[in-house]
Formats: sequence, C-alpha cells, structure tokens
Amino acid sequence: MSSSSYEYTSQLIEISELGDERGMLAVIEEHEDLPFEIKRVFYIYGTRQDIRRGFHAHYKTRQALVAVAGSCKVYLDNAKRNTDVLLDNPAKVLILEPNDWHEMYDFSSDCVLLVLASHLYDAEDYIRDYSVFLEVYGS
Ligand code: TYD
Repeated sequence: MSSSSYEYTSQLIEISELGDERGMLAVIEEHEDLPFEIKRVFYIYGTRQDIRRGFHAHYKTRQALVAVAGSCKVYLDNAKRNTDVLLDNPAKVLILEPNDWHEMYDFSSDCVLLVLASHLYDAEDYIRDYSVFLEVYGS
C-alpha cells in the first residue's frame, strides 16, 4: 500500500461534553464519533516528561487518542507532512490513521492517554522501522 492509495487523514475532533452541577461526562461511540469499531482499549500513564514513545505506524490499525487526564503532545508524520497535536482536554480526540508515524511526548505527570483501537494487538501490524514506513507510505 502506498500513501496515495490510503484515503484517510488523521484529524483532531471535538466531542460534546455533557455537564451539569454534578460534573462532566464525555461519550465516544463507534460509528457515531469514530469511523471504526472499537476492538481494543489501552491507556498510557505514569510516563516521564522527558520520555518520547511510539515511534511507529501501522498497516491497518486505526486509533483514537484522548488525554482523559493531564496533557501530552503527539508528533504525526504521514510521509508528506508532519504536525504536532496537543491533547490537553478530555473532549479532544485525535483520530489517528495507520499511515501516520507517531511519537507521543511532553507528558504531564498526571497524563492518562486513553487509546481506542480498531484491531486487537498484533505485533505484525506495527511498522517500527522508519525506512520501511517510507517504503510503504512514501510516494
Ligand atoms: P509499545 O508499542 O512499545 O508502546 P508505545 O507505542 O507507547 O511506545 O508497547 C509497550 C509494550 O506493550 C510492548 O511490549 C507491546 C505491549 N503491548 C501489548 O501487549 N498490547 C497492546 O495493545 C499494546 C498497545 C502494547
């Protein structure tokens, strides 16, 4: 697969917050808010601020990232453009497509980064070598 045949682009969306005098509540539903069905949930927490993690892309896994507490940044590179996204609000959801090489960094000490994924864990679905990433998704 090359980037020209991959039709989706990662994007930051805002979900609606439901709040009243008791506090806040945010909802993410597959199909309604996400363009995929959720097969797996994991969360990253207790990451030191000087740590950068990720350093991979995927062949097929689509993900949604939310800093449900604290904040972090995500560096995205789809071989054509790169950008940095700040996740600092539980209503901000980064829809991360498989063709984006991503690195997460600048974690606040209280950051809990929730990840909803379209596929079960499969080490074979990871592209961890940047030169392979460019071969797969570069034009
Ligand atoms: P890793 O991919 O290195 O994390 P990050 O992308 O944040 O740098 O994952 C850390 C370890 O956890 C690695 O041994 C793989 C394992 N893992 C699972 O077993 N299942 C999962 O769903 C994920 C995301 C990771």
